[in-house]
Amino acid sequence: MDKRIEIILFKDWAWIVLSMLLVAGTAHAQTAMINAQSRNATSLNGEWNVILDPTGIGEWRQIWQEKKPLLKTDFVEYAFEGSPRLTVPGDFNSQMCELTYYEGVVWYKKEFSYSTGKNKRLFVHFGAVNYLADIYLNGEKLGSHEGGFTPFQFEVTHKIKPGTNALIVKVDNKRLKNGLPGLGYDWLNYGGITRDVNLIETGNTYIEDYSIQLRKGSQKEVSGWVKLNGVDKQKRIKIKIPELKTELSVRSDSNGVARLQFSSSFNLWSPAYPKLYKVVIETETDTVEDEIGFRTIEVKGNKVVLNGKEIFLKGINIHEENPVKGARAFSKEDAILLLGHAKQLGCNLVRLAHYPHNENMVKQAERMGLMVWSELPIYQHIEFSDATVPLKMEMMLKEMIRRDRNRCNVVIWSLSNETYDGTPNRTKALAALTQVCRQLDSTRLVTHVTNSQSYNNNSFKVWDPLYNYADIVSLNEYLGWYVPWQGKPRDVKWTVAYPDKPVFISEFGGEALFGSKYGPGDEAAFWTEAYQEKIYRDQLEMFNTVPGLIGVSPWLLFDYRSLGRMHPLYQKGYNRKGLLSEKGERKKAWFIMEQYYNRK
Ligand code: GCU
Repeated sequence: MDKRIEIILFKDWAWIVLSMLLVAGTAHAQTAMINAQSRNATSLNGEWNVILDPTGIGEWRQIWQEKKPLLKTDFVEYAFEGSPRLTVPGDFNSQMCELTYYEGVVWYKKEFSYSTGKNKRLFVHFGAVNYLADIYLNGEKLGSHEGGFTPFQFEVTHKIKPGTNALIVKVDNKRLKNGLPGLGYDWLNYGGITRDVNLIETGNTYIEDYSIQLRKGSQKEVSGWVKLNGVDKQKRIKIKIPELKTELSVRSDSNGVARLQFSSSFNLWSPAYPKLYKVVIETETDTVEDEIGFRTIEVKGNKVVLNGKEIFLKGINIHEENPVKGARAFSKEDAILLLGHAKQLGCNLVRLAHYPHNENMVKQAERMGLMVWSELPIYQHIEFSDATVPLKMEMMLKEMIRRDRNRCNVVIWSLSNETYDGTPNRTKALAALTQVCRQLDSTRLVTHVTNSQSYNNNSFKVWDPLYNYADIVSLNEYLGWYVPWQGKPRDVKWTVAYPDKPVFISEFGGEALFGSKYGPGDEAAFWTEAYQEKIYRDQLEMFNTVPGLIGVSPWLLFDYRSLGRMHPLYQKGYNRKGLLSEKGERKKAWFIMEQYYNRK
C-alpha cells in the first residue's frame, strides 16, 4: 500500500483512538469518601471568581486554559482577574440580580496553594453542584459529575503543583429532558456550587466507606463492614465505641473490605431519645470518628415499628431553602432554623423533598430526634426510556445511600415522586431501582410516592403497580384544594389496592397568603388563611377513614420559591402551601396541625 496512504490511515486511526481515550479520559467523578466533615480537610469555601456564560461560548473559548495575551497584538475575551465574585457554598441565583432566574453556565475559579504530606493522598471533594459540573485543575480536566444533590470527589495527589493552583468549575444548571429531575418541577432551580468544597488529605490507604448499623430485626447485633482505598488494602482495622467499652479488631481482605459483627446493649436512638455513640474507626494510616445511633425500623403487618414499638409518623415536608434569605439552604444554621420549626410543630419525621438535602440537615435532624425521609429527584416527568436515565438513577441512589447509610435517623428511602404509571419503562425501571436499593441497604424502608388515584362519589381509590415493590404505600392527595370535596370528609370511602401495607399520606394541604383577608373565607381564589385552615380541619377529619394510616406529612413547612406560582397579589413566585410564611409567620392552619400532632 502507498506509504502516503498508510500514513493517512494511521493518522485517522490514531485520532479515533485518541478521541476515544479523550472521551474516556473525561473521568466521571469518583463516589465520594464518606464522613468528609471528620477528615483532614482544608476548606475552599469563600469567594470564588466567576464568569457568567449565558451563551455557553466559554466551552469553545476553552476558559479553563486561562489564555493570556502574549504579543502586543494579542487579546483574550475572558478573564477571571477582575471578574465578579460569588460565595461558595451557595446558589448563584440569590447572589446576583442578573442571575435571579438564570438557568445556564457559570464558570467558577478558586486559587489555592497546598503541599501534600509525604505518603499522603489529596482529593478535592464537593458536597454538591447543581446540576452539571466539569472540573479542571491547572488547565487539565479532572472529569465531570451530573446531579445536583449528592457529593463527589477527584483525586489530585499528583496533579497539584508547588505555588498557586487554579481550580476551575464549569457549572450548568440548565434543565435536561433526560435529567433527574427533568424539565418540569415545582421549586426554584438554584444553580451553583451549592455545598462545601474541601481539599481532603488522607493516608496512602484510607478508610473510604463503612456501614455500622444494627442487623435488620436485631436490637443488639451490629452487622457491618469497612472499606479501605489504597494500594495496601490488607490492614488491621479497629472499631471502638468507648462508651460501651467495645473494641473490635478485624482485618481487611485483598479488596480492602473487612466485615464486622458484634453485639452490645445499646440505648436505642428514637425521637424522644436521640442517643448517638462516638465510634472510632482506625487503621495504622487513617482514623475516622463518627457519631452513630442504633435503632431498628420495620414494617409489621400494616404498621411501622421503631425499636419494636408501633410509631405514627408525624411528618412535615421541607424544601432545601432558607426562607428568610430566599436561597438554597446548606449550613448548620439553616438546618437549625428549618428543623426547629418542625420540632415546634410536634413532628417526629421530616420529608426532605424532593432530593437529598445537605449533610448538615440530616445530621442536625439526627441530633434533634427527627426521623428523615430521604428522596431521589425522580420527579413527575422523567425520560425512563432514555438509556442513560436508569444509569443516572442508579448512580444517584448509590451516592445518596453511601453518604447517609450511617445516619440512623434516615428511616425511609423514597425513590420517586408522582411519576406516571403510563410512562414507558417507568415501572420496570423503578422496580429495578428498588431492587438495587434493597441490595445496597437492607435496614431501611423503601417507598415510592404516587398520585395514582381516583375520587368519585366521595370514594377515594389508590392503586399503582409500584406499590408492589414498596414497603409503604405513600400517596399525595389534595382533597379540598386541587380537588373539591364531593361529600363530608368523614364519609370518604377509601380503597387502597394493597390493604396489607401501611399507608402514608406524604402530601396534603392548600395555599394561603399569611394575613390575607382580601376576600370571603370560603373561596379558594382569595388565598385566605381561613380557607387553608378549613382544608386542614377537613383533612384531619378524613384521616380517621383511612385504613392502615401510619402517618401524614403536610405540604409543607414554609412558603417557598417556585416560579410557576405567578399570581401577582397572592403568590409572587412563591408556592404558598406553607404552614408558615417565608418570614416564619404562623398561618391559622399551623395551629390545627400542631394540635393534631400534640394529641397523637
Ligand atoms: C405535588 C408535588 C409537589 C408540589 C405540590 C404542589 O404533589 O409533589 O412538589 O409542590 O404538589 O402542587 O404544591
